[in-house]
Order: sequence, then structure tokens, then C-alpha cells
Amino acid sequence: MSKHPLSRREFLVATGTASVVATSTRARTATVSDKPAILGGTPIRTEPFPEWPLIKDQDRKNFLESLEEKAWCRLYADTTTEFEEKWAAALGAKHAIGVVNGTNALYAALNALDVGPGDEVIVSPFTFVATLNAILQQYALPVFVDSDRATQQMATDRLKEAITPDTRCILPVHLGGNMANMDPILEAAQEAGIGVVEDACQAHFAEWRKKKAGAVGDIGCFSFQSTKILPCGEGGAVVTNRADLYDKLHAFQNNGRDRLKGTREGYLHQGTNLRMTEFQGALLLAQLARLEEQCKHREGNAAYLTKLLNEIPGVEPAQMYEGCTRNAYYIYMARYDQSQFSGLSRSGFLRALAKDGISVGAGYKPLDKEPFLDQILNSRAFRNIYSKQRISDLKERWNLPENDKLCEESIFLSQRCLLGSRQDVEQIAQAVARIQRHAGEISKL
Ligand SMILES: Cc1ncc(COP(=O)(O)O)c(C=O)c1O
Repeated sequence: MSKHPLSRREFLVATGTASVVATSTRARTATVSDKPAILGGTPIRTEPFPEWPLIKDQDRKNFLESLEEKAWCRLYADTTTEFEEKWAAALGAKHAIGVVNGTNALYAALNALDVGPGDEVIVSPFTFVATLNAILQQYALPVFVDSDRATQQMATDRLKEAITPDTRCILPVHLGGNMANMDPILEAAQEAGIGVVEDACQAHFAEWRKKKAGAVGDIGCFSFQSTKILPCGEGGAVVTNRADLYDKLHAFQNNGRDRLKGTREGYLHQGTNLRMTEFQGALLLAQLARLEEQCKHREGNAAYLTKLLNEIPGVEPAQMYEGCTRNAYYIYMARYDQSQFSGLSRSGFLRALAKDGISVGAGYKPLDKEPFLDQILNSRAFRNIYSKQRISDLKERWNLPENDKLCEESIFLSQRCLLGSRQDVEQIAQAVARIQRHAGEISKL
């Protein structure tokens, strides 16, 4: 027992071998029954996890200053520029450019790497739909590589076989703030002479061999949407160390204006309007000042949760690749094995947890099976570019048995569960253990 970080009493409670002590601030000393709330017992938690996003005085001050300045568009002020400089410095990257959201960060990145009709982009099928949408928006073809269930990231041992002469870029996703296996990805890209766009929309301050996510490949893409660990409502950024890509990306988000010459000689580049507003920049500056401290807090709680869950067979926390020197824990990912829970289905398990005051989600569904994908691949535009044979060959290559299994077993805890106290984390493990002891009864409900 001595190697366990908990006291004997805490350990017995966490693993359910003693009666459970509810440790919410309201009822710190009340002893609750061993019965899960779904069977009529007292819920383990009655208080919500910490709220998100957090608003402090600095957020209000920055936001109102921006409002009063009336220079709401970044063309007339420099708050967004200041954020970009700070964000690039925080990542150890040469350049960062704010954009409207993460989806359009990916769109801008693929455009800058000249991904277009006829090209293939290698991507994980276990991600938010926006990653796929950005590829389709360029009329390029997604080539899904199967998932590694242990880490819930792209299975890089299947990567090289996915590369063809049409492959234009690899788009790894650092899912949940855990890192994709970047060494083989960078090596495969270099060998094939193609680019790497990191979808770091969930991975602010995650690290690969001490380099920050988003600053490892050619271009990194971030989201600052409300739930993200660096939030401003809606927002995004592209990050790069390459001067040529910086110029292209900068022009692209600003209607094609040259970064240095403006429009003196006309519009020199392809462009659209993806400009971040000053309000977004102002909020991000305030939020960024707290990011490191929050990441440390989440990491500590995540390590503790992993220790506790490792005592409970049937809930396996996502592993990290050896090169992942920091996990940002936007999502705490795990896999649920119903055979260790008397056959209780994942949805039944999640329902029981919710009744105990712990809201946990199921992971993503298989992207390759989303109905809209077939519609797009059969659309007039795609038919103009690709033959029926090419599309059916592509689908043949989507051989994703591990991902199908992962989608059935993955469970996601929000980062909010890790922002509170150690007791919050213990309550999660207590609820899981208590449900496990009664899983047979629960599955009959
Ligand atoms: C992995 C991933 N990629 C891209 C995006 C898109 O970001 P946004 O919602 O800011 O457009 C998200 C957002 O949830 C995401 O999780």
C-alpha cells in the first residue's frame, strides 16, 4: 500500500472498499450509502465542476477598453497584433496570426500549403468534424489512417502505406490535448516531400519533446472557441516558423493584402477575410496570462485521476507516446470495457455517472461513416474532379477496424473536471468504482 499516493482510508474510499464519503464542499462529512444514485443512492456530487470560461477583472477591463476605443477591427488597432506576438512567443514559434476560428485556421493552413483538387490529405478518423471539413473545403480527398486505441491518436504504423504520389500533406490531430506520434509523422512527411499541418485546436501548451504543439510541423492550427482551454468565444490562430508561409497566411486572412506592401501595387495574393476582431484579441490577452497555471493544475489532477482509475479494471486512461512531454488535457480520455462492468453498456455507464453528478461524454463517432461525407464525395463539384473509380478506390483504403472499436469504447471527461480540487477527482473515481460494484443491477434497469 505504501507506493499508493493515498492514505489507507482514502484508498479504500476511492476504490469502494469502504463506505463512500461525499466530499463536496456542502457535505464534506456526510457518509453516503454504497448504492449508486441511479439505484436510489445519494449522488456522489451535487455541486457542478468549476465553470468555464472564467471571467476575471482583467477580462472585463481588456474587453471594455477595446469596446470604448471603437477600433473594433484590427486594421485600426493593435490589440490582436499584441496577442499574436505573445502567442507566438509562448509557443516558441516565429509567427502567429489570429483568425476567426479553428476551422478557418485549418482552411488557411491547407490553402497556404497549396492543397487543392486532386490532392490527398492524410488524417485521423477520430476527431471533430471540422478537421475533415477543412480538407473537403479545398476539394481534396481525406485519406483516413486507422486509430491507435491505447493513445486514441492516429496509428502511425499505418501511415506510410497511406502515402501516394497524390498525398500533399499529413494533418495530425493532437486529440484531447494528448500528442499525436510526431516523430514518424515528420519523418514520413520529409521522406515524401510533403507538408505537416498540426490540428492543435485542442492542444494549447501540449508538447512534443519539449516543443509546443503547433510549432512542430509546418503550420499549427488553434481554436479559441468557448470550451477550449484558451477561450474567447470564437477564435483561432495559425502558427508557423516559415517566413514564406507566414506571408501567405497573413495575406490570406486579410483579403490578399501583402503583409508589407499593403495594396500599393494592388492585391498581390489570394485572400479572404478571416480577421480576428480586437475583442477576441483583448480577451485572449487576459486569458493567456492564466493558461500556464491552469495547465499545471489540470496536469496534477489528471495524474492523480490516472492513478485512481488504474486501480479500477475496465476504465483505461489514454496513454501518451514517449515523445509527449506534456499533455494539455482539454479532454481526459479513457476507454470503457463493459466486460469488466458485468456487461453494462457504455451508455448505461454514462447515464449512471450523470446521476451521480459526473457528466462524462462518449467519444467521437467514426467520421468515415458520417452521411454528409458520401454526399460531398458524390457532389457535382467532386464528380467534376474525381472519377467514380477514384472515389471507390479511396473508400477501399479506409480500412479502420481499430477506430470502429475505439468509437464504441472511448469516454471523454471535460477539462472542467480537472480544474477543481483533489476531492473532485476522488469523487470521479469513487463514482466509477461504486457503479462497477452494482453494474449487474444497473444493466437490468
Ligand atoms: C480537433 C478540432 N479541430 C478543429 C476544431 C475547429 O475549431 P473551431 O470550433 O474554433 O472552428 C475543433 C473545435 O472544436 C477541434 O476540436
